[in-house]
Amino acid sequence: MKALVLAGGAGTRLRPITHTFAKQLVPVANKPVLFYALEAIAAAGITEAGIVVGDTAGEIRRAVGDGSRFGLRVTYLPQDRPRGLAHAVLVARDFLGDDDFVMYLGDVLVGAGITELVDAFRRQRPDAMLLLARVDDPGAFGVAELDGDTGRVTGLEEKPLLPKSDQAIAGVYAFSAGIHQAVRSLVPSGRGELEITEAVQWLIDRGRDVGSLPVRGFWKDTGNISDILEANRLALESVEPRTDGAVDTESRIVGRVRIAPGAKVCRSRIVGPAVIGPHASVVDAYVGPYTSLAEHTSVTGSGIEYSIMLSGASLDGVHRVEASLIGHDAEVTPAPRVPAAHRLFLGDHSKVQICS
Ligand code: TTP
Repeated sequence: MKALVLAGGAGTRLRPITHTFAKQLVPVANKPVLFYALEAIAAAGITEAGIVVGDTAGEIRRAVGDGSRFGLRVTYLPQDRPRGLAHAVLVARDFLGDDDFVMYLGDVLVGAGITELVDAFRRQRPDAMLLLARVDDPGAFGVAELDGDTGRVTGLEEKPLLPKSDQAIAGVYAFSAGIHQAVRSLVPSGRGELEITEAVQWLIDRGRDVGSLPVRGFWKDTGNISDILEANRLALESVEPRTDGAVDTESRIVGRVRIAPGAKVCRSRIVGPAVIGPHASVVDAYVGPYTSLAEHTSVTGSGIEYSIMLSGASLDGVHRVEASLIGHDAEVTPAPRVPAAHRLFLGDHSKVQICS
């Protein structure tokens, strides 16, 4: 069995971060979302992975390399434009050959991994098997209709106005080679893409066996800012406390906090779960729960919680930041007047002055 990881796409919902950065590399608990996928694939016993890449191919290649550190052999599969999830399968046709494969959307986080899906697929040998997650707002997703308790999928709808179930397609699929014929039969949808839901529906319409498996543990599609912050919260829940950096005696570390080598914490309070990256600096500051500070970030005379700061970003003299994603090398400093609270979504290299 092979893996096909989708790491192209436009990432329009995450602009401006994605103007300069691949959305699959946004760190969650200081690890790129894509790395969780690659680790889960390796943990399921798969060794060969194709990664579909678009405009951000260079960055993805730099971050993942030949895949050996994940225990994978990685082949890069360039896609000229984001022409849809099913188009990525077309692009990968030669790489996949007639092998079974798992297709994994590179911006999806599945807490419990995909081993159960891969094992169930190998055991049952259906034509396709979808990982499904129960959601409160099925209208925002591809939705599956199921046949009673068998888990067999009887129909799919893309972002339905009147959803027939609350079972969202989670973004991890297992396929046999039959999917290639389905994909070849597609024409672009209303939004101009080749839709994988239509390819799976093509299989269902021809009486093929399409199974499903519920997601266990947490699941998040990190397509937009609030989902990334939630994914960060969920991933931080399992952080092991550990201090490798320097913490002075005037600081207090409460709960599960991981402080990386080279980081320094002075006269500050950090309440976990939180991660402080290599060479980050926290001085006269408060870092609250569900916060990830990447490497070389700096928080001075400031407070931050439920947020992500990308590498090199800094907060200086800012009273309180929450529910924010702060881009690489962004600088946040106070403006003269006093606000109640700040909510930020800043692109890489932003320089913003706010009241504090
Ligand atoms: P989406 O989040 O559905 O699409 P997108 O990346 O274009 O984002 P947005 O809607 O914000 O513009 O994509 C899911 C995953 O699949 C993501 O990792 C990007 C990847 N992808 C491809 O590799 N090729 C494609 O043609 C598409 C549409 C997505």
